[in-house]
Amino acid sequence: MTGRIVGIGSYLPERIVTNDDLAKIVETSDEWIQERTGIKSRHVSDPLVEKPSMMAGEAAKRALADAGIDGSEIDLIVVSCTTPDLLFPSMACCVQKAVGAEGCGCFDVNSACPGWLAAFNTAQSFIESGNCKKALVVGAECLTNFVDWTDRGSCILFGDGAGAVVLSADETMPKNKFIMHATSVKADCLYCESRMQPKRWEEEGFLDNTYFRMAGRDVFRFAVTEVPKVINELSEKYEFSLDEVDYYILHQANARIIETIAKRLGQDLEKFPMTLFETGNTSTASIPTLLDTMKKDGRLKKGQKIVMSSFGAGLTWAANYFEI
Ligand code: ACO
Repeated sequence: MTGRIVGIGSYLPERIVTNDDLAKIVETSDEWIQERTGIKSRHVSDPLVEKPSMMAGEAAKRALADAGIDGSEIDLIVVSCTTPDLLFPSMACCVQKAVGAEGCGCFDVNSACPGWLAAFNTAQSFIESGNCKKALVVGAECLTNFVDWTDRGSCILFGDGAGAVVLSADETMPKNKFIMHATSVKADCLYCESRMQPKRWEEEGFLDNTYFRMAGRDVFRFAVTEVPKVINELSEKYEFSLDEVDYYILHQANARIIETIAKRLGQDLEKFPMTLFETGNTSTASIPTLLDTMKKDGRLKKGQKIVMSSFGAGLTWAANYFEI
């Protein structure tokens, strides 16, 4: 048995912030941001209402509605979130409450942006080992709470949101195939220190050190090198050809990164759908929200072959090959 995606849902905050809006608070322009990243606007959460737990719960409810499944049928919830509004209980427990999945197994995973792929692989492994039949896999992120809004090099990139899928055990599905990697060698090019260190609040500049920190060029180079490599590794290991893949669903960080990866793989850019123009980089939520967009606009169809791949802090990167 392997899990088939039988429902998809997402939640994006109501407030939309355009590049022109950002140009009022940092020295930048719509032209610069679009040229370097492709991003035109992003959804920014209301911090008191649209918390990661709330967005995760909403996305999960919508995925269940799409699947036509009641929350009580779910026997596992795995959430990926690096910016939880609660240290504990887990975001998965919050989702359980939101969807009424009383009694099921719940836990979170943290693998930065590829975290949703880690959550997906974990849930699939539970299904494949016979430990569960119906799982909710959710990615939720509120990076705008951790962005330094005076740093034009990073604040222009991010948006908030959540996405979820329902997996249902299906004996006709081929096995979920994946590869996950990490290296600590370049950990300092992408990190965010925890704010939960009360004694350190007295240190001058402590809050500044808890903002998202990124060496953009290093991350760019890492992504365009490692993502094509891991996708090629996946195709060799599991013996499929890149040409037979219908869609490459990549982490929505930057259109230039995706264009470079498409070129390096020798694949048509049409196979690389993008939502980042309107969402910015929503970190771990970017792949499931993209899947939801594609389901709604009719691009996703049963039997299609999909490669998903993501990269992020750690540094971590991963790729999956599966059928819709
Ligand atoms: N507006 C105008 N100018 C800017 C801006 C801005 N928003 N940001 C930087 N600049 C300036 C810099 O100050 C610099 O000026 P200088 O030459 O006078 O010193 C110049 O533009 C070039 O800066 P770079 O940082 O070298 O610009 P680059 O072309 O590398 O683009 C960017 C920056 C868009 C961040 C790019 O490096 C990138 O996309 N990297 C990948 C980042 C990424 O994907 N991170 C997310 C992964 S992790 C996760 O998803 C959570």
